Amino acid sequence: TFTPRVFSGIQPSGGLHLGNYLGAIVNFVDWQERGTHETVYCMVDLHAITVPQDPAALRRNTRELCAGFLASGIDPERSILINQSQVPEHAQLAWIFNCVARMGWMERMTQWKDKAGANAERASLGLFAYPALMAADILIYHATHVPVGEDQKQHLELTRDIAAKFNHDYGVEFFPMTEPVIEGAATRVMSLKDGTKKMSKSDAVDGSRINLTDDAATIAKKFKKAKTDPDPLPGEAAGLEGRPDVRNLVNIYAALDGRSVDAVLAEKAGGQLGYFKQDLADLAVAKLSPISTEMARLMGDPAEIDRLLARGAERAREITVPILEKTYDIVGM
Ligand code: ADP
Ligand code: NA
Repeated sequence: TFTPRVFSGIQPSGGLHLGNYLGAIVNFVDWQERGTHETVYCMVDLHAITVPQDPAALRRNTRELCAGFLASGIDPERSILINQSQVPEHAQLAWIFNCVARMGWMERMTQWKDKAGANAERASLGLFAYPALMAADILIYHATHVPVGEDQKQHLELTRDIAAKFNHDYGVEFFPMTEPVIEGAATRVMSLKDGTKKMSKSDAVDGSRINLTDDAATIAKKFKKAKTDPDPLPGEAAGLEGRPDVRNLVNIYAALDGRSVDAVLAEKAGGQLGYFKQDLADLAVAKLSPISTEMARLMGDPAEIDRLLARGAERAREITVPILEKTYDIVGM
């Protein structure tokens, strides 16, 4: 049996957004507050460099992401908060997993196909191997649960395939079958300009994304300009069928307010979207602007962030060093 332990990560590739917050960080804080599991949260800088990153920007984005975690309620005493490259066992286990995973498994990953597209010949080898590093991030802690957004489901299945093949090939029960936890009213936050596309750090469309660093006026403006349709709000979730932009706004409202979509619609049924967007903007400003203010304050003291991350890495290595040693032993090294 394995110690109940949660692991999850976010890339420090700049522009921490509302999708990351509602799909991931809110759930990270919930797990920490529940106290049933040890919680480990990670800035995955090794993943970020699978596509080109400016070094100064990467350094800044890593600190900014750390500030985002802290400002959202991650407590570095109760959770282990780390930057991936400072815990070298992640990369060391990833190499072992590169030798366990099969090329065909990686080729089937939809995120690889989306990101590399027709230009796979020119994509980095790291982008292709990304899911094996992600499996190592999780399994170097023997994590039992991984809270993530919907987009990571396939990578979590691959993590289980890698654990199972390792265990089978070496005749051990060493790595756990980690469970993905995809929960909340907003496991898939969509672009404010196109409700059929995921809100993403890489979306360049102006106003498509709410950043956690946005000030109150910017948040309000983006919601007021969000794409909608002319019909009023339906009375229940089924009425959102075929209305992806409206569905997205309602999901965001429900998630920010900690209520179900049906509860929100029961209250707002028949309302015009113009008014609803106004309410949504007010709610989002109330919830998010304290976070952006706190992030800005924390960014004023980068040395303190670096100190916290160094301490997090020390605590993490109490877990990862013994697991890597045992892995090497199993493999014959
Ligand atoms: P991005 O996809 O913006 O580059 P990451 O890959 O670093 O972000 O993902 C960090 C976490 O945020 C993951 O758990 C992912 O599932 C979640 N996430 C990212 N985008 C969204 C979204 N639009 N809606 C819900 N969750 C999301
Ligand atoms: Na993602």
